[in-house]
Amino acid sequence: MTFHANLQSMSSHPPVHPTPVSPKRRLDVRHFRKGGGPYVCLTAYTAPLARLLDPHVDLLLVGDSLGMVVYGLDSTLGVTLEMMIAHGQAVMRGSQRACVVVDMPFASYHESPAQAFRNAARVMAETGCNAVKLEGGAVMAETIRFLIERGIPVCAHIGLMPQSVRAEGWRARGRDAAEVDILRRDAAAIAESGAFAVVIEATREALAREISDSLPIPTIGIGASVACDGQVLVTEDLLGLSGASTAKFVKKFADLSPEVSAAVAQYAADVRAREFPGDAQVYG
Ligand code: KIV
Repeated sequence: MTFHANLQSMSSHPPVHPTPVSPKRRLDVRHFRKGGGPYVCLTAYTAPLARLLDPHVDLLLVGDSLGMVVYGLDSTLGVTLEMMIAHGQAVMRGSQRACVVVDMPFASYHESPAQAFRNAARVMAETGCNAVKLEGGAVMAETIRFLIERGIPVCAHIGLMPQSVRAEGWRARGRDAAEVDILRRDAAAIAESGAFAVVIEATREALAREISDSLPIPTIGIGASVACDGQVLVTEDLLGLSGASTAKFVKKFADLSPEVSAAVAQYAADVRAREFPGDAQVYG
């Protein structure tokens, strides 16, 4: 009976739409208030990992970093709206409590506020997520305002913006007076636009502190010091699953790569020695 029940549940297809959860149980963007942090945020791309992270975090970010982390791309530029929607649905299914924010991929919101709305509305409707995130400061303020006025909560992302690496490179921002000025203006324009929060990536502590102190919305730092109102990291980085080369701002809270290697090596040895499957794994 159990065997058949298990077989049935294994063969049933996942629902196209996320499992509905009580709106009362899931945090939404109103949870993020100046002075209410520090907010704990992590990336998630899959249901099993979302399930593990969910009890510990305020926010799960379905980041377009999945292009590199999951798909092995060399940047986030090849990530599509369909990829973001599929992973957004998976993370929604795997989580119940965390506020889920899905990244808008490169070229899905840059043309016009109308294009941004069309694509962000798909992300919201097809995943059931709480908000979208998009990269850009002052130049995106009008688009952010357009989305918010039409019911789509937005988190902004300034500083190092991975979708601009072809033009700007992978390097910390705010290192000279001109860049400091740009970051200050971007931060102020984002706060004006109505974004509920802003990710600041890779900048000097003094500048991150000045921006955090001056903005009425929470700042979520990644490589932007403890001065921010919250922190976000790519989960695979903090678990030590991203290989040797990670950014300066990454701290490995675990080093799982050697453990995965050891487990797989043991499995391979047991298969070759005909020791797996053993009695415990065989139907009688
Ligand atoms: O795509 C992503 O994962 C991100 C975070 C690193 C902030 O934007």
